Amino acid sequence: MPRTLGLIGSGMIGTSLARLAVAAGIEVVLSNTRGPDSLAGLVAELGGRARAATPEEAAQAGDLVVAAVPLTAFGRLPAAALAGRTVLDTANYYPERDGRVAELEAGDLTSSALLQRHLPGAHVVKAFNTITPHQLFSLARPAGGPDRSALPLAGDDPEAKTAAARLLDVLGYDAVDIGTLADSWRSEPDTPVYIRPYLGEVPALSVEEFLSWTRQTPGIPVPAAQVGKLVDSAVRRRAGEARLPSDA
Ligand SMILES: NC(=O)c1ccc[n+]([C@@H]2O[C@H](COP(=O)([O-])OP(=O)(O)OC[C@H]3O[C@@H](n4cnc5c(N)ncnc54)[C@H](OP(=O)(O)O)[C@@H]3O)[C@@H](O)[C@H]2O)c1
Repeated sequence: MPRTLGLIGSGMIGTSLARLAVAAGIEVVLSNTRGPDSLAGLVAELGGRARAATPEEAAQAGDLVVAAVPLTAFGRLPAAALAGRTVLDTANYYPERDGRVAELEAGDLTSSALLQRHLPGAHVVKAFNTITPHQLFSLARPAGGPDRSALPLAGDDPEAKTAAARLLDVLGYDAVDIGTLADSWRSEPDTPVYIRPYLGEVPALSVEEFLSWTRQTPGIPVPAAQVGKLVDSAVRRRAGEARLPSDA
């Protein structure tokens, strides 16, 4: 089990991961763009296993590092500090938020392969991108439980994927290896495994209403066999066609 998780990005997904990690006995080092002082309230709430730092410090402190940032931040991540590290990438590409990226839309690259290009020395693993923040927290279960959910993982480095799967396990999830970063389109927005299976039936809502609705919905467990089937049934479409609010 990792002793310390570095978090670059401490918004909705980063905060849920920090809560799960602290509950599992893992130290967390949180960071964002606005500086450690802006995270004082969250650190106080998380307790003695949490501290706030700069993105560089979070990168260096973590046995594993999560980049829970929008795609637009990829170029500003601390590449030197992340060299040699396993970096879990939670990002999803939404042109209406992130701007258009021609290579993604041409299918030349997946968004996680784009991150890998920004971080050539790191081992990028795509993870935690298919579940909304509240459900990530509420669906976590101990290993072996009948209502334990699974999440997809993709990456090019087998050891990094093993380390990521160990983290998922202690945070409350089984892992389903869906292949390399090139294969990770199978868990991108608008694919069958993406977000909706963990939510059940979603009413038609605006972005704000959707986020508020997800906070009041416990979510539906999605076991590993179902994740495998959903991933296998994915059909590749042009990236960037999915629209918010299926993600935020
Ligand atoms: N929300 C969802 O339902 C969901 C589900 C799965 C995956 N995702 C994906 O996960 C990623 C994060 O989503 P989120 O909902 O957690 O976003 P969010 O709430 O907007 O949080 C983004 C975080 O990233 C930080 N950040 C931005 N640029 C940074 C940089 N250059 N260096 C360090 N930190 C930086 C922000 O810091 P400041 O606030 O200080 O700027 C903030 O803490 C996105 O790519 C999203 O597509 C989201």
